[in-house]
Amino acid sequence: MSNIKLLGLSGSLRSGSYNTSVLRNVKSLLPQEIELEIYQDLGKLPLYSEDLDGVDLHPEARRLRNAIAESDGVLISSPEHNFSLSAALKNALDWSSRPYGSHPFIGKPTAILGASGGILGTIRAQLHTREILHALEADLVTRPEVLITQAGLKFDTDGRLVDDSAKALILQLIDNLTAKIENVRKNLEVESLAS
Ligand SMILES: Cc1cc2nc3c(=O)[nH]c(=O)nc-3n(C[C@H](O)[C@H](O)[C@H](O)COP(=O)(O)O)c2cc1C
Repeated sequence: MSNIKLLGLSGSLRSGSYNTSVLRNVKSLLPQEIELEIYQDLGKLPLYSEDLDGVDLHPEARRLRNAIAESDGVLISSPEHNFSLSAALKNALDWSSRPYGSHPFIGKPTAILGASGGILGTIRAQLHTREILHALEADLVTRPEVLITQAGLKFDTDGRLVDDSAKALILQLIDNLTAKIENVRKNLEVESLAS
């Protein structure tokens, strides 16, 4: 496998966030050839407005779009807020969904996971996120569903994930994500040979 660059988006702006911890834990589980950059500052994005889009694109939105475009794949970990994804993540996805027809999520291998304090482990948030990523034409990893339930019991005081079954599911999710990335690369090679 050649080098792979992943971008991690946490849907939580909270300093002690379990979902940001999930991404940090993923980073520590990855083999050397896979790099994960955890995107900072989703909270600096203004609320989406077409007045801030277009020629005078807001710099934070430009930064996010470029980071997605330059990555081989995206990994999203979001809390569930009131049975849905967080407003911070929805806002980031809205900013990333323009310009219509040429935005950076089109065909982008993308996987999602999430941690919550409750017993459903963000399933409703993940279902809504999947619908949005479908609208964005992302190349979505469908399985496994990684639902880290009762997060308070699954991390130690240093934020390390201590649940072996969650770790195994995360590794399977990353395998499936990297398989999609390899597929995209192969298709691009075939297209360039044919042209
Ligand atoms: C506004 C708000 C709404 C929430 N709604 C849900 C919910 O619908 N389902 C759920 O499992 N947890 C819910 N929670 C609890 C979150 O799962 C918990 O705060 C979790 O730690 C958030 O993720 P984070 O640690 O990454 O910030 C909610 C929390 C907040 C602040």
